[in-house]
Amino acid sequence: MAKASPTVLFLSLTFVVLLYILLASLPHKATTFHHRHRRLNLRSHVANSRSGNHTAVIFDPLIADFEQRFEDRQWEQDHFHFENDAHDDMSHMTEWEEYMKAENFINDEDRFNITDRIIQLFPLIDVSPSDGRVSAQELSAWHLNQGMKQMLHRTQREMQFHDKDKDGFISFSEYEPPAWASSLHDDKSGFWGEEHFNASDVDGDGLLNITEFNEFLHPSEESNPKTTKWLCKEIIRQRDSDKDGKLDFKEFLSSMYENIKDLDQDHTASHDSSDSRSKDLFMQLDSNHDGYLSEDEVMPTIAKLHPSEIHYAKDQAKYIMSVVDVDNDGFLSLKEMIDNEYAFYGTVFQDEEDIDYYHDEFR
Ligand SMILES: *[C@@H]1O[C@H](CO)[C@@H](O)[C@H](O)[C@H]1NC(C)=O
Ligand SMILES: *[C@@H]1O[C@H](CO)[C@@H](O)[C@H](O)[C@H]1NC(C)=O
Ligand SMILES: *[C@@H]1O[C@H](CO)[C@@H](O)[C@H](O)[C@H]1NC(C)=O
Ligand SMILES: *[C@@H]1O[C@H](CO)[C@@H](O)[C@H](O)[C@H]1NC(C)=O
Repeated sequence: MAKASPTVLFLSLTFVVLLYILLASLPHKATTFHHRHRRLNLRSHVANSRSGNHTAVIFDPLIADFEQRFEDRQWEQDHFHFENDAHDDMSHMTEWEEYMKAENFINDEDRFNITDRIIQLFPLIDVSPSDGRVSAQELSAWHLNQGMKQMLHRTQREMQFHDKDKDGFISFSEYEPPAWASSLHDDKSGFWGEEHFNASDVDGDGLLNITEFNEFLHPSEESNPKTTKWLCKEIIRQRDSDKDGKLDFKEFLSSMYENIKDLDQDHTASHDSSDSRSKDLFMQLDSNHDGYLSEDEVMPTIAKLHPSEIHYAKDQAKYIMSVVDVDNDGFLSLKEMIDNEYAFYGTVFQDEEDIDYYHDEFR
């Protein structure tokens, strides 16, 4: 659901590549880059990762574990202690202690040695095949795996909160949609409505187990056919201004085209006017040529409208390859990874200049 602007992404990518070229051409500067003072930057502390925005997957499971524990504390505080101010102060202390503990551990190069970590993780990533080098596919599979684990952890946490009778299942009446969702529509259709709930209930027993609940919270992931069908219906429902249950070209152009226009990769290279490009794309999707997009026909747009973890994992791998694959052979050697080890920990460490921000905040 998060939209990373391609332009911003491209600019940051270009910037990092240029920065890398600069550093590589200045061996002395490159060395100080590697030995700069390390400063922990747990995401939840900086950006609010519970906002529904997608944040980069953490590369190292050890760091992910720290972050999860830290996030759990914040989450507990938000969900269970908000009514009591005195209590709130207490949790804040614990949260801060937790953060300091993580910071002390991770900033201590003897205990958390990034080079050592890369050496240990390398064989776990280099698995298909184990040939002493890491491909973009292996890297994105690794990120996907880490991302799914981190996602499931959040789902387990949500489950604990919503499962009022503690039977390990969520019924529709137990689930309270987030406040912003319930204001958007009645409680039947729409995200987190009853139809959505039913679509995630694979075995139709009226209850979601952890697998089903995870899918309910993340309907754009590789889903059961019922959820995919529901999502297609929802895509149309949100854009169908004349309420005839399908999208005509006008509805498509005003509400969908901008978000999916690079769906057809070949077209980005062509110099057609955007007018004929939008018509082409519409006709391509409209496989029965009746002039309308039906639920089945919008299925190919899901990946663009609701990007899944696979999309982000591929993106992240692509970015890392661009920075770390110095000899451009399409693979990462252990040496390349060690030489550019901070690229893997980009979400974790920040530069010195930003430090005061935190300290001010907690003074
Ligand atoms: C995503 O983050 C931006 C600001 O960083 C915020 O304005 C927006 O509401 C967030 N999206 C969601 C779904 O919370
Ligand atoms: C980190 O590990 C590498 C490889 O094992 C080692 O060469 C280096 O000295 C270690 N650094 C520290 C600060 O212990
Ligand atoms: C969802 O399924 C239940 C049965 O489990 C049914 O009673 C209910 O009408 C369904 N709701 C919708 C909106 O489809
Ligand atoms: C949850 O139920 C689905 C079928 O409805 C099943 O495939 C899945 O294995 C179950 N998950 C767990 C953790 O039991």
